[in-house]
Amino acid sequence: MVQRISLIPVEERLRAIADAGYNTFLLKTKDVFLDMLTDSGVNAMSDNQFAGMMKADDAYAGSMTFYELAEAVEEVLGYKYVMNTHQGRAAEHLLTKVFAKPGDVVPTNYHFTTTKAHIELAGAACLEIYYDEALKTESTNPFKGNMDPDKLRNVIEKYGKEKVAFVRMEATTNLIGGQPFSMANLRQIRRICDEHGIILVLDGSLVCENGYLIRQREKGYEDKTVGEIVRETCGLADLYYMSGRKNTSVRGGLIATNNKALFEKIRPWLPVYEGFYTYGGMSMREIGAMAVGIKEMVDPAVAGCAVEQVKYFVGRLVETGIPVVTPPGGLACHLDAMKFLPHVPQSQYPAGSLSAALYMSSGIRSMERGTVSMDRDREGKEVLADVELTRIAVPRRVYTVSHIEYAVDRISWLYKHRDLVKGLKFVYEPPVLRFFDGRLEPIDDWGKGLSEAFKREIGDC
Ligand SMILES: Cc1ncc(COP(=O)(O)O)c(C=O)c1O
Repeated sequence: MVQRISLIPVEERLRAIADAGYNTFLLKTKDVFLDMLTDSGVNAMSDNQFAGMMKADDAYAGSMTFYELAEAVEEVLGYKYVMNTHQGRAAEHLLTKVFAKPGDVVPTNYHFTTTKAHIELAGAACLEIYYDEALKTESTNPFKGNMDPDKLRNVIEKYGKEKVAFVRMEATTNLIGGQPFSMANLRQIRRICDEHGIILVLDGSLVCENGYLIRQREKGYEDKTVGEIVRETCGLADLYYMSGRKNTSVRGGLIATNNKALFEKIRPWLPVYEGFYTYGGMSMREIGAMAVGIKEMVDPAVAGCAVEQVKYFVGRLVETGIPVVTPPGGLACHLDAMKFLPHVPQSQYPAGSLSAALYMSSGIRSMERGTVSMDRDREGKEVLADVELTRIAVPRRVYTVSHIEYAVDRISWLYKHRDLVKGLKFVYEPPVLRFFDGRLEPIDDWGKGLSEAFKREIGDC
């Protein structure tokens, strides 16, 4: 469906962002022109997905729609056992509840916010095992999402294999720019897990983008279909989970595996935290749409739509001289806030400032992916992020090139006026996942100066 959007005048945008505590999560959609906050749960569904919703079997137990989904999961991902969860983080909750104990470690190619929170709530620690190249925002390395096998071996030696709850590979590392891992790397990690009897968990929330990028970038995969690559990827993991809000374009999640023993360890907890075995916290209608979405997601036209738009977006910003993460990744265009706003120290949240400033200069809602997205450590000390990114997501099948051109135009204007943007400070900070609900204030009231410059040079809108 289509939805009316409007671009409110700049003074109103200033008021809206101030009311939202300079946190784009707290904006109301009536004040947002292009909603590029996330690709999660906001992708356009297909006609067949809507049809899947209409004919869903709404039974509490034994719904045939769940069995349709299970068939689709087996066909596309190759897993025999599946359970739904209300979204990806609920899958993370169950996995960490069952497999992680206090004192354990979870090595990962890079953490995701909710994953890390669940690992830490289980009393375990999340360890980042990437190649140094992963944090170079400007790079030509095609697989910045690879895990460093030598570092993984060192971790296993240091902590002992019994302390490694599981190894987690995230298909396109969200927080460092949607960067893929290669199949060769996944195979190496699989081998190390096998040598030590460690469970390998795949976060496949963006498994199709990872597959599409492997097809484009890894030798030997150019003639394989995205579907074949996805099946091969899934075949290397012991346990798979995904937020269905991205690739399947619905609101839900799942855990799947071919390992019956592992599955049976998790299954008893499903009705406690999520719902009965055949719905697991999702509505049957969403499961109906997911059964279709899981087949559609491996269609190259679907798997590639965000990747190709992001490539275009990043390419245009590179041409314009704007600091942006390269190579382009899976889900969004990521501005490098430390290069965009070099005068704003990390302790004053440059990525948060840039996200707020971008909203003021364009009505575009992006997301802070930097220090605001890191929670404080156990002693209450600030943890500085490895990179400060302002993520401008491209929801699948929603925006066109002209929307992207608009964004490029306004980002360029903002870049010319970047000296007007200063830092932020927290005025309210929740104890966990503070980026969702935290409220901030601009240092020296910089929002006013920026909106006045905009009004002078561009006008209201
Ligand atoms: C890689 C990754 N894993 C897990 C999650 C959590 O999923 P959800 O938002 O459905 O809870 C997300 C969400 O953005 C994600 O990007």
